[in-house]
Amino acid sequence: MSIDSEKDLIGLLRVGKVVGITLKKMLESVRPGMTTGELDAIGAELLKKEGARSAPIITYKFPGSTCISLNDEAAHGIPGDRVIQVGDLVNIDVSAELDGYFADTGATIPMTPVEPVKQQLADCTRLALEKGLAVAKAGNRIFEIGRAMENEVRRCGFRIIRDLPGHGVGRKLHEPPSVPGFFNKRANEVLREGLVITIEPFVSTRASHIVTAPDGWTLKTPDGSPAAQYEHTVVITKDRPILVTAV
Ligand code: CO
Ligand code: CO
Repeated sequence: MSIDSEKDLIGLLRVGKVVGITLKKMLESVRPGMTTGELDAIGAELLKKEGARSAPIITYKFPGSTCISLNDEAAHGIPGDRVIQVGDLVNIDVSAELDGYFADTGATIPMTPVEPVKQQLADCTRLALEKGLAVAKAGNRIFEIGRAMENEVRRCGFRIIRDLPGHGVGRKLHEPPSVPGFFNKRANEVLREGLVITIEPFVSTRASHIVTAPDGWTLKTPDGSPAAQYEHTVVITKDRPILVTAV
């Protein structure tokens, strides 16, 4: 969506805060020994308390309120009986709808102690998001975001997972335009003030593509290499974007 009224901005910021706080509390709660289903239940409760509805459920009938993806899973991991272990890299992605507005956010947290490369991967991915945010301004083309993120990820010696882009968001969970995580010169649309998008680098140590697991949902690296993701929903302005999901 594109923000063209105060009402839109207020509505978007409200749902952004709800998903941001939900993610933050889930990140504070996650620990080895907990199942991914227990972690998801914490998120589900927080969303419900605020009157928000899980976007993956209402949009795709996803079998969980949030997506929880471990290690070589990049996205759309199904919460369940799996016990989180020391050494795991845990990605939590929270998206929800409130009063007709949608926001989407995600982060990756290592269950320390972890292999150093997993920590580096999480750190690099967070930095890549920062680099993407820095060029997400009105007048720039969409591909500048992917170019900045891909450059940073290369500097780390890692790879962008190319088939998982950011996206427009606001009135639905997934809207145009696509926001590639790499330099894709076809993504040449000019960013306009008020446009609402997600910026979400997916990064792996080796893989640049994902495959769908037999469960039909989970997207994982084909070679078992670990993956990480960070995500914010933002509103484009002439300067720094408004971070809708930062809390
Ligand atoms: Co997301
Ligand atoms: Co997203």
